Amino acid sequence: MQRKRSIADCLSYDYSSALMSIIAPSVLAADWGNLAHEIAKVQDTGADWLHLDVMDGHFVDNISFGPAFVQTVARASRVPIDVHLMISRPDHYFSRFTDCAHTITVHVEAEHDPAATLRAIREAGCQAGLALNPPTKFESVAPLLPLVDLLLVMTVNPGFGGQSFIPDTMSKVAAAVEVRKKQGLQFLIEVDGGIEPQTAAVARAAGADVLVAGTSIFRAPDMQAAMASLRHAG
Ligand code: DX5
Ligand code: ZN
Repeated sequence: MQRKRSIADCLSYDYSSALMSIIAPSVLAADWGNLAHEIAKVQDTGADWLHLDVMDGHFVDNISFGPAFVQTVARASRVPIDVHLMISRPDHYFSRFTDCAHTITVHVEAEHDPAATLRAIREAGCQAGLALNPPTKFESVAPLLPLVDLLLVMTVNPGFGGQSFIPDTMSKVAAAVEVRKKQGLQFLIEVDGGIEPQTAAVARAAGADVLVAGTSIFRAPDMQAAMASLRHAG
């Protein structure tokens, strides 16, 4: 099957200058009672992607939403849908998201064969993402990098929005930048958790390309200003 869109097609601005980050607001922090309005508003403020956190109550100690919710968001969206599967069996469930997701990210710590799942995601026409939790070493994802379009370095322990950024994780972003260069790979590096203007600057300096932010965007008193400060952080 034809891959959906290239990374370049996902960007609403010229990323080639490498001066800008891709901003992916996390819908987990939105007001779901006004979902359509929240999605329209965050896109109007310049969101590049929408990040969707799927949690199963097993892999993480929280249950969020499933494919029907993601499809509802995708129907209301004009930007790429970035699905983050915090679930124990991503190999079994990822296909429920392939019709509406642009990128599907699975955890290296989940109960599956990550290489096989990543290949299957690509074969289904989506971009394949691989995530690792703060305690997980970079070495556990390094051999899989040729199979990924996106590496998600978790900057909090997954499961909940509104937690504090863990600075130690930045060494993994730096290591990924190095390996990408050495091996001539093309994956994007995404950070997720506790991202606000100050930590966004730290993550960008380490080499992150994609900033996921929930609380700092959807709970901000002025969403437009919050987006602008993330965009220009650092
Ligand atoms: C955490 C999720 C994050 C979360 C980020 O488990 O993967 O995407 O929504 O939320 P904030 O930006 O509030 O830390
Ligand atoms: Zn996430």
